[in-house]
Amino acid sequence: MSATVLTEIVAPGVIQITMNRPERKNALDRASYVGLIEAFAAAEADPQSRVIVITGAGGCFTSGNDIRDFAAAAGDGARIAMDFLGAISTATKPIVAAVEGFAVGIGTTMLLHCDLAYAGAGATFRMPFVTLGLSPEGASSYLLPLVAGSKRAAELLMLGEAFGPQAAQEAGLVNAVVAEGAALDAALANAKALAALPPQSVALTKLLLKRGQAASVAETLVVEAKHFGERLRSDEAQAAFAAFLKR
Ligand code: COA
Repeated sequence: MSATVLTEIVAPGVIQITMNRPERKNALDRASYVGLIEAFAAAEADPQSRVIVITGAGGCFTSGNDIRDFAAAAGDGARIAMDFLGAISTATKPIVAAVEGFAVGIGTTMLLHCDLAYAGAGATFRMPFVTLGLSPEGASSYLLPLVAGSKRAAELLMLGEAFGPQAAQEAGLVNAVVAEGAALDAALANAKALAALPPQSVALTKLLLKRGQAASVAETLVVEAKHFGERLRSDEAQAAFAAFLKR
């Protein structure tokens, strides 16, 4: 298991996956994506694991894709993120997210694939794809209008400004806002409740809830990834990455 992704059985049937690169606000580099993909695959394959909790270390969810990897943008730069999104969007076991601190880029869009999500009162969300010269990913161009409404989705994805946990709840990205530092407790309480329910019934309910969107989500991920890969190499994006790295 990668050092930048930790997995731990935290309660009977509950596996916690922690993004663990606090010195970079848990930015997801290639090794982190590999670790996440392996952790999700292991949780899916383990009959003892019933519910997956995803969180970040050091009071931060994740600052999104590592901008250095974005700047390199060569070859399969975006491919590994796509593999992670494929894994999280097709997981059969319930996923519960606990968000504290920053949830940027894929840190926000991955919440669209979690079944439940809880945010601490100090959490900040942002999808700065346009700001960075990029385009939406994570099937957000399809799922965000569904959960947030088209005007709100346009605001969040086009203007790309930061927003707080109340706005995230109003946009359908999180179930509830809890006290700062209490998101993991809220996520674990609900994960334990889910793990105590009949697992086949839980799995079937998840399948039925996702069924109507599954084909469109898969298709959107592919279309978005094609544009995103092209945008990564664009002058607009490369200038934005250079500006961030020069700060
Ligand atoms: N990729 C690479 N490095 C990142 C990073 C990212 N996505 N996010 C943070 N870091 C690094 C910073 O460069 C900094 O490194 P340094 O200590 O060597 O200077 C360190 O992590 C701490 O981040 P810092 O910016 O000092 O923390 P902050 O609390 O002031 O701000 C953020 C946090 C998340 C708001 C800010 O780091 C940020 O905007 N990051 C980029 C987010 C982003 O655009 N992600 C891509 C989305 S598509």
